[in-house]
Amino acid sequence: MKATAQAQSNIALTKYWGKRDAKWMLPNNGSVSMTLDQFFTVTTVEFDSNYAQDEFWLNRQKMAEGEEAKEVFAHLDLIREMAKISTKAKVMSENNFPTAAGLASSASGLAALSMAGANAAGLNLNKIELSILSRRGSGSAARSIEAGFVEWIRGTDPEGKDSHGRQIAPPEHWPEFRMIVNIVKTGQKKWKSRAGMAQTVATCPYYPVWKETAQKDSEQMREFILKKDFTAVGKLAEFNSLKMHATMITTQPPIVYWHPVTVDIMQNILQWREEGLESYFTMDAGPQVKVMCLEKDEKELVKRLNGISGIERIEACKAGPAAKLLEKHLF
Ligand code: PMV
Repeated sequence: MKATAQAQSNIALTKYWGKRDAKWMLPNNGSVSMTLDQFFTVTTVEFDSNYAQDEFWLNRQKMAEGEEAKEVFAHLDLIREMAKISTKAKVMSENNFPTAAGLASSASGLAALSMAGANAAGLNLNKIELSILSRRGSGSAARSIEAGFVEWIRGTDPEGKDSHGRQIAPPEHWPEFRMIVNIVKTGQKKWKSRAGMAQTVATCPYYPVWKETAQKDSEQMREFILKKDFTAVGKLAEFNSLKMHATMITTQPPIVYWHPVTVDIMQNILQWREEGLESYFTMDAGPQVKVMCLEKDEKELVKRLNGISGIERIEACKAGPAAKLLEKHLF
């Protein structure tokens, strides 16, 4: 059986950094994100007894048994366990943006794989079950099933039955909100988020402060989004991202995702804000800077960002749609 799904990537407004349980992929704190309309993954999964082993193709290239392929195969095992089948599968995936460079390719990738895989295996999962399945592949993927503004609930169940994505508001709630993605460097990062966050939890002396404040940040973010209070959302998102990066750089050995251009963009945003152009930045596990603004300032900001050397691509995103099944397969 074959199925194809498209899932959008998402950018966290309040971040997830650190697990309380690695097997079930349970976070220490809840997080809030915006699903992006411009960046997505399309994945086709086919279970067929003609396949002697699992195969994973990414952007038209067959992936050898590397880390990425292993994650995909482990996820197929989870799906097979749920569907009580043992058939091998072929997975073909395409991203319309750079992989593993801090642009949440794992979020859209694992959400698309979960939806396509579950359907190809004959499972009929609802959104919550799909989000939970996605979470087990990559935490942030739990937030890529839903449209618009989404929270990933921390939950308390030891196996994570209550830790999943839930919509705070649909894209129509706030059509003026923009997330301008600045792609600074498209090389693969040194620290994948999974290893990076485990190292932070184990060695960063400031991690307890993160843990204490991050849950509260997410609860506040939810309220600010519902009120459409742009200044409050921007300020908190920027502060939350900087707190996360403070724990990264004080991890041993240090995890520094920033590139000189990353810092250049941050400095400019701060300067422009002082001059009255209101925008805020947020960074994840990579050098890319995402700039939040309202529609009225988008043109001016994109023009100014274009003047900074070292930015390879600028894409202004709105809140995007939910993951969905597609009729057309990749193979
Ligand atoms: O679930 P992962 O492995 O994609 O980790 C995501 C980590 C951050 O992007 C830094 C934060 C977040 O909440 O998306």
